[in-house]
Amino acid sequence: MCGIVGYSSTSNSIELSEFVSMIKSLDYRGYDSWGFTFKDADQLKTEKQLGKIETPNQQGSATFVIGHTRWATHGKVTKDNTHPHTSNSNKISLVHNGIIENHQELRNKLKDNGFNFYGETDTEVIPNLIEFHLRTSESVLEAFKKTLDELKGTFAITFLHDKSKKIFFARRDSPLTIGVDKDSLIVSSDVTSFIDRTKKVIYLEDGDYGYINSEIKIFNKEKEVHREISEIDWDVSKAKKGDFKHFMLKEISEQVDTVKQALIQDSKLIEKITNELKSSEVYIVACGSSYNAAKAAEGEFLKNGLIPRIIHAHEFEQYEKFLSEKSTIIAISQSGETLDLINAVKIAKTREAKINAIVNVQGSSLTRLSDNNIFMNVGPEICVLSTKSYTAQVAILMLLASSLINKPNESKQEIEEIVRHIYYLTSESARKHTKELSQILRYSNHIFTIGRGRDYATAMEAALKIKEVSYIHAEGFAGGEIKHGPIAMIEHGTPCIVFVPNKNNQDILSNAQELKSRGAFIIGISEKKDETFDYWIKVLGPDKFSPILRIIPIQALSYYLAIMKGLDPDKPRNLAKSVTVK
Ligand code: M6R
Repeated sequence: MCGIVGYSSTSNSIELSEFVSMIKSLDYRGYDSWGFTFKDADQLKTEKQLGKIETPNQQGSATFVIGHTRWATHGKVTKDNTHPHTSNSNKISLVHNGIIENHQELRNKLKDNGFNFYGETDTEVIPNLIEFHLRTSESVLEAFKKTLDELKGTFAITFLHDKSKKIFFARRDSPLTIGVDKDSLIVSSDVTSFIDRTKKVIYLEDGDYGYINSEIKIFNKEKEVHREISEIDWDVSKAKKGDFKHFMLKEISEQVDTVKQALIQDSKLIEKITNELKSSEVYIVACGSSYNAAKAAEGEFLKNGLIPRIIHAHEFEQYEKFLSEKSTIIAISQSGETLDLINAVKIAKTREAKINAIVNVQGSSLTRLSDNNIFMNVGPEICVLSTKSYTAQVAILMLLASSLINKPNESKQEIEEIVRHIYYLTSESARKHTKELSQILRYSNHIFTIGRGRDYATAMEAALKIKEVSYIHAEGFAGGEIKHGPIAMIEHGTPCIVFVPNKNNQDILSNAQELKSRGAFIIGISEKKDETFDYWIKVLGPDKFSPILRIIPIQALSYYLAIMKGLDPDKPRNLAKSVTVK
């Protein structure tokens, strides 16, 4: 988590307020506190603030600036813990994303050598360690290299040295890119901070370190290396809210296009992956909504003769001994940076398993570890909640499932047909109805979501959406499980959202009846109204695509619950968009 950015130019200075807006474009990565350091002649000047990114107090411009937006891991949200962190003599100012696992050991060593510490972060050891190594090094780069050799853990780092006209950087398991503009270079966690300046980008590799000034110097294992410049293939407007008040609403609305775009894939690649799936043991690994997407498509795989093992990436280690060159992994991730997933993929690679990624962010760590990448093509997803990436993942998995029975075009045609339903579900009139429901539910302490089969996955995803943005406790249950315990929670008026398919719906309607007879307030999501429903949201379309269609009203409901409660739907508390810690 956390976003880092550094601007360097030997000819063109940047206004500090403009630089701060670059940090702001990374605030989906963390928004607890923020700060920046700029070089003023041979002095480093730092400003730090708590809370949301606003206009800086410092005025003026600079040619070398680094900045950070924090998602707190080590240490509370205080100014002392806010980045940039400066070394004891203010020679080094540094920003960091990741975790330094041996920070305590390094802190002790530095304390023994006369260094003082002022905060609780793991990061604070890095600038001081560089300063320590400067005592015995001939250059800053040499001191930096010695420091990197001592660090254990994951990181993306950039720093300024008071006497050097350079921004130094390094990456290990945390993302870092360099934007290449006409007269400036920008090192950043993500391209969103510079997409409105340049579309030319270098995706740094693990172990890369170096510096930027008017040129780019990259080293890996002490040798200078060259990294290709790529072109970003999406437009800056995709990363702006446009007429929408929040990214969440914009991204929900975009699904009318993104579900289709997700299916524009190279047919040869899909065929190749499908053949691999047919002849190997298949593991699908993912976290959060990406995991729910896999569960939503599980039924289609089973129907078409494939039993995928769907495993949370953070639990994957337990499966290591079963992996071999006969295993195929489908790794699903919007960001391509989720550390648990990256670790799972690395484990699979050591056992020579084949890695196929379903991923949104081009150039992300996952894309570089995988043998094949299926891109989601949904453009940047800025809101912390997965919405359009979730439905795109489901669509792609459905494409793979139908390819198993040699009918890859079946999903494409069917998706074309359901687009009109998505159009209605994302329309203002459909949202108005959902908004009314949010008024009824806004004071609820609990909301339960219930489904069977593929709708159980939708229930899980629905509960995740509601709780992460509205902070109302929400839990998803399989209809068949309710009587085994959860029904004890039902009181008069407990809201239960029930996903009802068009066919074979007797069992889930009986579950709704059981809940209603205990006093539950039943919200039915279905094509036809049922007498058990106290509130009904009409969703048309074939059951096969229910995981895509039926989640949309709940995405909208979650959005309105956040709005009703005066919360920022794009940046729920305690969360960040890409989870690059264990
Ligand atoms: O980038 P990823 O798809 O790997 O992220 C996985 C989860 O962190 C993510 O889906 C998370 O659960 C979302 N906030 C849910 O809305």
